[in-house]
Amino acid sequence: MKAAELFDMNGEVALVTGASSGLGARFARVLAANGAKVVALARRADRLAALVGEIEAAGGTALAVEADVADRAAMQRAFDAAEAAFGTVGVLINNAGLARPGRALDLPEADWRATMDVNLDAVWRTAQIAAQRMVAAGRPGAIVNTASIAAFVVERGLSAYAVSKAAVAQLTRALALELGPKGVRVNAIAPGYIVTEINEAFLTGEAGQRMAKKIPLGRIGETGDLDGVLLLLASRAGRWINGAIYTVDGGHNLVGA
Ligand SMILES: NC(=O)c1ccc[n+]([C@@H]2O[C@H](COP(=O)([O-])OP(=O)(O)OC[C@H]3O[C@@H](n4cnc5c(N)ncnc54)[C@H](OP(=O)(O)O)[C@@H]3O)[C@@H](O)[C@H]2O)c1
Repeated sequence: MKAAELFDMNGEVALVTGASSGLGARFARVLAANGAKVVALARRADRLAALVGEIEAAGGTALAVEADVADRAAMQRAFDAAEAAFGTVGVLINNAGLARPGRALDLPEADWRATMDVNLDAVWRTAQIAAQRMVAAGRPGAIVNTASIAAFVVERGLSAYAVSKAAVAQLTRALALELGPKGVRVNAIAPGYIVTEINEAFLTGEAGQRMAKKIPLGRIGETGDLDGVLLLLASRAGRWINGAIYTVDGGHNLVGA
């Protein structure tokens, strides 16, 4: 089998949450570049419109859908819009997420709740909606959740985030067990630190440089470092992979956070 054929996404409809920036925007571009019709979902409509314009200018097909992943009705409408435009979503990239750093002694209740709402509850909710529709349409599918190395290693000031991502890892395995027999594979990517606009100042600063020195591969990640694992899990190349959590971090987890 040729690599281009194995990873070919033609004929697939892929919905990417958190597509307005960072990893999600990259995931949307990569899936579209490999033939998928992409539904780019987030709250910032202007960012999504720019991304869709860029994908279309490159010869791809994409649709922007403005929705809050914490809102079930809005997410149902988003899947309705995706289906009306392209047909059943067969690939869900469950990527929207946030971090509200804060030490355990004084982390506000609202920050804990917001972290769980978006990083955990919404990942479950979106997977459920996507899977219900895949099963109803009688078509196989793939769900790829974005976890983090914080699922496995802890760091000061990140308790809520780390707990939410550990839960995403276990949710991935639980869903894989139940949805596998229905033809829906569920896997996760656990990235290490990757420069995106929310963490750019930190990661490219002094603290980031210190961290980079600890990473066995000697640098902080770039969004493109996840292209291979994304395509592996989303495409037929990953057809026997289910319930796996792929750590992609240059070896960072081996030395702690
Ligand atoms: N960058 C890293 O080092 C790293 C490492 C490990 C894991 N991750 C994970 O990777 C994912 C993407 O992070 P990123 O680094 O790309 O950060 P980012 O640039 O801030 O992207 C976060 C995305 O999530 C969306 N989002 C947040 N809340 C949402 C909501 N309520 N409804 C819909 N969309 C929402 C944002 O869009 P809107 O604001 O437009 O809604 C944005 O597109 C997250 O799950 C993060 O935890 C990142």
